[in-house]
Amino acid sequence: MLTSSILIVVLLYFTPALSEELCNPQDKQVLLQIKNQLGNPATLSSWIPTTDCCNGTWQGVSCDTDTQTYRVNNLDLSNLNLPKQYPIPSSISNLPYLNFLSIRSIPNLIGSIPPAIAKLTQLRYLYITHTNVSGAIPHSLSQIKTLVTLDFSYNALSGTLPASLSSLPNLVGITFDGNRISGAIPDSYGSFSKLFTAMTLSRNRLTGKIPATFANLNLAFVDLSRNMLEGDASVLFGSDKNKQKIKLAKNLFAFDLGKVGLSKNLNGLDLRNNRIYGALPQALTSLKFLHSLNVSFNNLCGEIPLGGNLQRFDVSSYANNKCLCGSPLPACT
Ligand SMILES: *[C@@H]1O[C@H](CO)[C@@H](O)[C@H](O)[C@H]1NC(C)=O
Ligand SMILES: *[C@@H]1O[C@H](CO)[C@@H](O)[C@H](O)[C@H]1NC(C)=O
Ligand SMILES: *[C@@H]1O[C@H](CO)[C@@H](O)[C@H](O)[C@H]1NC(C)=O
Repeated sequence: MLTSSILIVVLLYFTPALSEELCNPQDKQVLLQIKNQLGNPATLSSWIPTTDCCNGTWQGVSCDTDTQTYRVNNLDLSNLNLPKQYPIPSSISNLPYLNFLSIRSIPNLIGSIPPAIAKLTQLRYLYITHTNVSGAIPHSLSQIKTLVTLDFSYNALSGTLPASLSSLPNLVGITFDGNRISGAIPDSYGSFSKLFTAMTLSRNRLTGKIPATFANLNLAFVDLSRNMLEGDASVLFGSDKNKQKIKLAKNLFAFDLGKVGLSKNLNGLDLRNNRIYGALPQALTSLKFLHSLNVSFNNLCGEIPLGGNLQRFDVSSYANNKCLCGSPLPACT
């Protein structure tokens, strides 16, 4: 008798807990709206209203188990084969606990990035890549103070770079390559926080000069390739920089390469197809980590310094300059 009443008490205590759903009802409703706003794609068939969105069965959805609030904090919408063209679902901005949002490889995703995305005030990682999303990058992103990385590579984004992004205190990098972004790089981009170390703006339609304010940055990775940028890029260089890779290929940069300081940690330098002049700096020979170099199709002159890794690079890394000579190119005369 006693044991059976204990059993009943135990059952009464645990049974509701076991059947109780972890998924927050509001989050579930928003997720189902998102699914609906994307035309109920087959890839999201695991998003079933009668199941728990937090038990790991909903494709791309996970909930906050650390704080045990079980609010949806990660959403990965990738490789969705949408039946027709749809914009980014406006409901996405109603998942206030999102920490990570990835929207990737969705060719039928069109329209612009909804400015209301700024309502996601806990968002740290935002990836919108390989879609047909167009329009400008919204200025409202600068309201999401938690942002750590922004990756908008390979979409159809246009307009100019939002100057306000530099006010984001935790931002470590921006990756905006493969869009149609035009105009100049804002002066404010020289005032990113000390945490900011990676800038990828390649394959766009950027014009103008690199702002002088860039002297304040210490970028470990910078890729400005395939734009229409001009003038002096020497502000990116400097022996005091912690720089590891600099890619400036296929622009209209013109400056004296012989006068730049080089970080001893430089491991890659791609300057091909610009209007860079002067001689190769002697200091290139003392860079132990320099594993890739291409200075072809510029206006460089003089003898390639002998030593370090410089003679290990292919002839094509040095070809088509004004009067560069010496190994691995033909000897100077
Ligand atoms: C998730 O919950 C549903 C019912 O809500 C259940 O059918 C399924 O087995 C559960 N899956 C896991 C991995 O717990
Ligand atoms: C954009 O749409 C075109 C045509 O619908 C498609 O061929 C292309 O792959 C899409 N781009 C991306 C990055 O998905
Ligand atoms: C250097 O760049 C030129 C011009 O784009 C290219 O043809 C060549 O293959 C490149 N060489 C190396 C080693 O990357």
